[in-house]
Amino acid sequence: MEYIFDTHAHYDDEDFDADRYELLDSMKEHGVGTIVNIGASMRSCKTTLALAEKYPFVYGALGVHPSDCGMMTEEDIQWIKANAANEKIVAIGEIGLDYYWDNVERDVQKKWFVRQLEIAKEIGLPVIIHSRDAAQDTLEIMKSEHKDTTGGVIHCFSYGVEMAREYLNMDYFIGVGGVLTFKNGKKLKEVVEYAPMDKLVLETDCPYLAPVPYRGKRNSSLYLTHVVEEMAAIKGMSVEDVIRVTAENAKRLYRLV
Ligand code: NI
Repeated sequence: MEYIFDTHAHYDDEDFDADRYELLDSMKEHGVGTIVNIGASMRSCKTTLALAEKYPFVYGALGVHPSDCGMMTEEDIQWIKANAANEKIVAIGEIGLDYYWDNVERDVQKKWFVRQLEIAKEIGLPVIIHSRDAAQDTLEIMKSEHKDTTGGVIHCFSYGVEMAREYLNMDYFIGVGGVLTFKNGKKLKEVVEYAPMDKLVLETDCPYLAPVPYRGKRNSSLYLTHVVEEMAAIKGMSVEDVIRVTAENAKRLYRLV
C-alpha cells in the first residue's frame, strides 16, 4: 500500500483543539503516512516543534509567514536557526511575501523573507515559500538569493504556467492542494498538466482550503484523496501511482531519503 505524504499542514491551529490527537492517531489507518507541520509565527514554530517531537510520522518546518513578520526580531532568527538543528525539523518556512492581506509593510516583509532565506542557506535546509499576489517581487528575491540554496517548494501555487516554468527552472517543487478541485481552479490545473510529475507534491494547508466536496469546511490530510483523484485524471495516471510518486517527491524535497 502507498501512503499519502502531506507536505504542508497546520495541526497546531486552534481549529484542531477539540480532536487534534484523535485525528493524528487515525492518519495511518486512512492511508496518510507522513505529515510536515508548518510554522507561521514564532508561537506556531514552538507548537510545531512539540508536535514533531510527539509523533514519529510528523516532521516540522520553522519560519515566520509574511503576514506575521511585523514584530520579528533578530533574536527570533537566532531561535529558528538554533532549533532548526532538531532532527525532526526538515525545512525553513513558511516564508515569503503576501500582498493580498498586505498587513505588514512590504519592505518589512522583504527584509525578513531575505533574512530567513539566508539562514536556510547557512544551515542547508530547503525552504517553503508562501507568495500571494506578489509574483514579481517573490521571483526577483528568489532569483537574487538562489545561489547556494538547497531548494524547496512553492507552496499553494497560485500563479500561471509562465511563473511555474521559472521555478521549475530553478528546480523548485510545486505544492498542490484543494484548489485543484475548485471550479475556479483552472490555472492550477494547467500548471499541474504542464509540470513534470517528479516536481509535484501534495499539501493540505489545513485547516484551510478543503477540496470539493468539503470546500469551506475544516480541511485535514484525510481529504487529500480528492486532490489525488483530480491529479490522477489530469496526468492520466492511477491513484496509486500519484500517491507513490508525490510521496517520493516529498521525500526528496525534505531530504528524508
Ligand atoms: Ni500554510
